[in-house]
Amino acid sequence: MENKIIGIKNLHYSYPDGTKALCDINLEIQRGESLGIIGSNGAGKSTLLLHFNGILRGRGEISVLGNNLTDKNLPLIRSMVGLVFQDADSQLFMPTVFDDVSFGPINMGMPRQDVEKSVKKALKEVDMLVSIKRSSHHLSVGEKKRIAIATVLSMNPQILVLDEPSSNLDPKHRRALIKLLNMLEMTKIIATHDLDLISQTCSRVVLMEEGKIVSGGLCPDFLAEAASLC
Ligand SMILES: Nc1ncnc2c1ncn2[C@@H]1O[C@H](COP(=O)(O)OP(=O)(O)OP(=O)(O)O)[C@@H](O)[C@H]1O
Ligand SMILES: [Mg+2]
Repeated sequence: MENKIIGIKNLHYSYPDGTKALCDINLEIQRGESLGIIGSNGAGKSTLLLHFNGILRGRGEISVLGNNLTDKNLPLIRSMVGLVFQDADSQLFMPTVFDDVSFGPINMGMPRQDVEKSVKKALKEVDMLVSIKRSSHHLSVGEKKRIAIATVLSMNPQILVLDEPSSNLDPKHRRALIKLLNMLEMTKIIATHDLDLISQTCSRVVLMEEGKIVSGGLCPDFLAEAASLC
């Protein structure tokens, strides 16, 4: 069985205003791997993550579990890749926390009786079960971040893509997130400035600069080398 879970070849992306954000990205990610993506502000980390489930569509080739990212395969790929946005407000749009966290599972056709179980499990994992009936918009920034993570965990995706998952988390919930990430067996891709989180959760890391992947290597050696560059 092939071990590659995501393949990206010669990916280029420019935003509609002409900003070149990705330039000739080539990357392979293996099943079960935890990959960290680091790089300075504006390096292109979030832009790259938004390609993993086709929210942005650049020029080049992307395949997920052997399926090319095309219009036809988009629903299939979105059911396999769970993406947590850098900005939690972009992820939360329903009237209540329950509605937000059940949106993904309902949308991908999970049987109703399983949806509630899955929502409660995900909320428990981020320590937010007590807020199940509240409005997501009334939560604090860090609480919203944890709900945003739950909206993806509830879908039990094969690939978990997280953009700055520890931003705005208090130390206790940051530690809990690291523990949770280490317990989850799916493939993980994490973009962050939190190098300590990467060293505790990732086996490999790539460094981005000005829209390119400029280097990469195994943790912890490469991380120590790259820390001064971003
Ligand atoms: N909607 C947009 N329209 C135009 N340019 C954009 C847009 N979003 C991002 N950019 C530009 O694309 C480049 C890459 O941005 P991106 O958000 O991917 O960086 P990042 O590595 O995630 O940075 P950060 O560490 O600040 O999150 C930057 O030059 C940024 O200004
Ligand atoms: Mg970003």
